[in-house]
Amino acid sequence: MKGIILAGGLGTRLYPLTKSISKQILPVYDKPMIYYPLSVLMLAGIKEILIISTPRDLPMYEDLLQDGSQLGIKLSYEIQNKPKGLAQAFILGEEFIGNDSVSLILGDNIFYGFDFINKIEKASHLRDGALIFGYEVDSPREFGVVEFDENYRVVSIEEKPKNPKSNYIVPGLYFYDNNVIEIAKNINPSERGELEITSINNEYLAKGKLSVELLSKDTIWLDTGNYNALRKASNLVYKMQTEKNINIGCIEEVAYNKGYINGDKLIKLAESYKKTSYYNQLLKLISNK
Ligand code: G1P
Repeated sequence: MKGIILAGGLGTRLYPLTKSISKQILPVYDKPMIYYPLSVLMLAGIKEILIISTPRDLPMYEDLLQDGSQLGIKLSYEIQNKPKGLAQAFILGEEFIGNDSVSLILGDNIFYGFDFINKIEKASHLRDGALIFGYEVDSPREFGVVEFDENYRVVSIEEKPKNPKSNYIVPGLYFYDNNVIEIAKNINPSERGELEITSINNEYLAKGKLSVELLSKDTIWLDTGNYNALRKASNLVYKMQTEKNINIGCIEEVAYNKGYINGDKLIKLAESYKKTSYYNQLLKLISNK
């Protein structure tokens, strides 16, 4: 399975923070935001990843993450000239996806949880149909929302509904078979003029090919699209790392634990962070082995 990180958009809900820099490069405690979704795809076992961003911002991601070989993975890059919706990722990524299945993660979504890691590892073996997740929140209006019937079967997914039919939203991590490319090419733009990921999910649903797995409350999911959400995300990562000794979004740690890089390579990566606590965390990984 291939992976795509969508790190485009104008980030207008974070202005003036994002007036001259990309949202997904902003700090979430000690790392650029894009480390978090990248670590999720890596935790799922996905090693070929495409990063999509604006013409202005893409060079910054290339500079930050290079070709991925330092992490034992393969990164490539693609420009999205205009933000025409999440589903455009599969059209822009057609060549990259080739004949494979693909996972899309949004560059501003943060996930963490042990049960979650098991779920995404399994999801990365998907060959047929689509798999998305449901996560219970208090205010679902800003998201894709799942509607269930009385037997908890999925009836529909609605994008940003005024009257949400449940409190389960669809977080920004999706797994699809190769048909997603053709589906993306054939959906119509929504009222807000975007190719919605929700339209893709409803196509799979109509064909009886959509699975929605509910994430437990132990899973952390944060969207970092506004000031408070961003601050909340930073606080949470700080707490987990300093109080519980659990690193979140640490791509070097994931690469090492997955066996993509050895101890020597990890030390080499850590050397460039020598003045930071990040450096100490990375070295601890080796001494704890
Ligand atoms: C997008 C999707 C929405 C999903 C959300 C998760 O919303 O359209 O279905 O629930 O991401 O973050 P947007 O970022 O466009 O507001």
